[in-house]
Amino acid sequence: MLKRTRTCGQLRKEHAGQSVILNGWVNRRRDLGGLIFVDLRDRYGLTQVVCDPETGDKLMTIAHKLGAEDVIAIKGTVRERPKDALNQDMPTGEIEILATEIEMLNSAVTLPFLVTDRETGLEDLRLKYRYLELRTAELQRNLEIRHRAAQSVRKYYYANQFFEIETPVLMKSTPEGARDYLVPSRIHKGSFYALPQSPQTYKQLLMIGGFDRYFQIVKCFRDEDLRADRQPEFTQIDVEMSFIDEEDIMNSTEAMLGQVFQEVLNVNLPRPFPRMDYTEAMHRYGSDKPDLRIGIEIHTLNDILTGCDFQVFQSVIKTNGAIAAICVPGGAQFSRKIIDELTEKVRSWGAKGLAFAKITETGLESGIAKFLDGFEKNLIQTFGANVGDILLFIADESKITYPVLGRLRLATAKILDLVPKNVFKPLWVTRFPLLDWDEDNKRFVAMHHPFTSALPEDRPMLASNPETVRARAYDVVINGNEIGGGSIRNHTMEMQQEMFDTLGIGREEARAKFGFLLDALTFGTPPHGGIALGFDRLVMLLVGTENIRDVIAFPKTTSAASLMDGCPSPVDEKQLDELGIQIKEK
Ligand code: AMO
Ligand code: AMP
Repeated sequence: MLKRTRTCGQLRKEHAGQSVILNGWVNRRRDLGGLIFVDLRDRYGLTQVVCDPETGDKLMTIAHKLGAEDVIAIKGTVRERPKDALNQDMPTGEIEILATEIEMLNSAVTLPFLVTDRETGLEDLRLKYRYLELRTAELQRNLEIRHRAAQSVRKYYYANQFFEIETPVLMKSTPEGARDYLVPSRIHKGSFYALPQSPQTYKQLLMIGGFDRYFQIVKCFRDEDLRADRQPEFTQIDVEMSFIDEEDIMNSTEAMLGQVFQEVLNVNLPRPFPRMDYTEAMHRYGSDKPDLRIGIEIHTLNDILTGCDFQVFQSVIKTNGAIAAICVPGGAQFSRKIIDELTEKVRSWGAKGLAFAKITETGLESGIAKFLDGFEKNLIQTFGANVGDILLFIADESKITYPVLGRLRLATAKILDLVPKNVFKPLWVTRFPLLDWDEDNKRFVAMHHPFTSALPEDRPMLASNPETVRARAYDVVINGNEIGGGSIRNHTMEMQQEMFDTLGIGREEARAKFGFLLDALTFGTPPHGGIALGFDRLVMLLVGTENIRDVIAFPKTTSAASLMDGCPSPVDEKQLDELGIQIKEK
């Protein structure tokens, strides 16, 4: 075999005259009657190869047969391209190689889609032949960025005294939010391991073990409903530190992210990241992960609209609900049709209706204009509204009003193209509620996870008003994406026990499920806390995609299947027997 002396992305003008060998795939072949041009591709780039009939029949016989994606070796001489053939768009566009010899290393049959154009295959087809899709320029670039990001993350933690420690993949099933993936044990029939939803308990035990600063880039597994930014197995940058508080975690996470954006994108993330309490985020942006690229903010209007005769508003004020609105710049151009569509949307999100007021030269234009008489000036002032804007009102229970306006904020910004590109707006959202009411099971569940500690000043309310207790928890959000979350943990047995009590996990149940952790907490546990960042989501931001599958080499579909190898799949009766498992008929 002719072994390569250079890559397909390497050669420049200064190499002219050199004899080289390249290996790679035929990206494209153009037959110009006499001359045959071949674009040869490897992961480093593309190089143009010229096969000239004057070189001899042997060469041309092979050249004539070359098809897309054949794997070949070519030997030849680098030469400068004539002026009219220079290609500014290609790094190797100043040169070409005059071939003297071609060796066919392996031929390819016709591909199910063009690797030069991903869009020639539907996603299912591309996932079935994922290894071919991996040859596309887009996925080559995405996985390179993923690699560089991982390297940058490791470099940061190595330089800051964090130990990289692996934790088990087969662990005890513990209730921690999502459903576990279970692995049956052959030796202990009827017993199961779980795949970790995160290494949460292990990293806390590492702190108890004295390791002080830990990190790991680690696979996590969650059997939950999948979305565009969720995979059943995904990767976290998992971090835990001892003898620290929120500031230390936030500072080191910002520094790490700053380095990654700098090294991978040459983008300077402004530090420190702004911070906002959960309550403020909900009231101003209607979301616990506000996209700060969008300037639109929610204002609560209960005070301003007291005395307004609109029936809907009056009754919401009486029942202590919330009237709030957003002002969408340029939204007065919304047609009846768009407003109807937005109204449909807010109804599907749980609101009863959508009231609007367009700001025009002659005043407010609105179905409820007559009710807004006298409130006009105050409304315009509150929002700093201008002629051409639209006010969109929701009146409902708080837990509907704010989230619906939050979604409306994103939807309208999208319609009017108000989201700036190539801008990164990070943010810390802090002091989340510790607990969430689970209506189905009529009990409190941990909003983050049960190891999160309460704000010391709120702890006394755990028994009396659990819903008002805030957590020492924080999320890092970039451009409206929850990139990571963490908390300061319960580091005494009493704190942890109190949390289990609040969650209605009985003493015996707590023993059975978390006995090892409760025991460990009695043996001198340092105060500690940490964070985990969704590495796939971070890479999505770095490459600029909204599909998590674009940044994972071998992703699963939204129904958690791999179309390439066909998993999950049935197994032999013998395998089931060994595990003592029988499949129930439907
Ligand atoms: P949490 O559950 O918030 O915290 O997860 C941390 C981050 O992981 C990412 N993430 C996901 N990414 C892709 N697909 C999924 N299915 C998925 N689920 C979560 C998100 C999220 O912010 N042990 C705690 C962290 C801690 O307290 O230190 C934990 O796992 O970006
Ligand atoms: P109605 O008086 O029910 O015809 O409603 C007048 C306008 O107010 C319509 O545009 C409705 O969509 C809107 N509306 C109704 N209920 C609400 C609500 N809870 N919040 C905001 N707007 C509403």
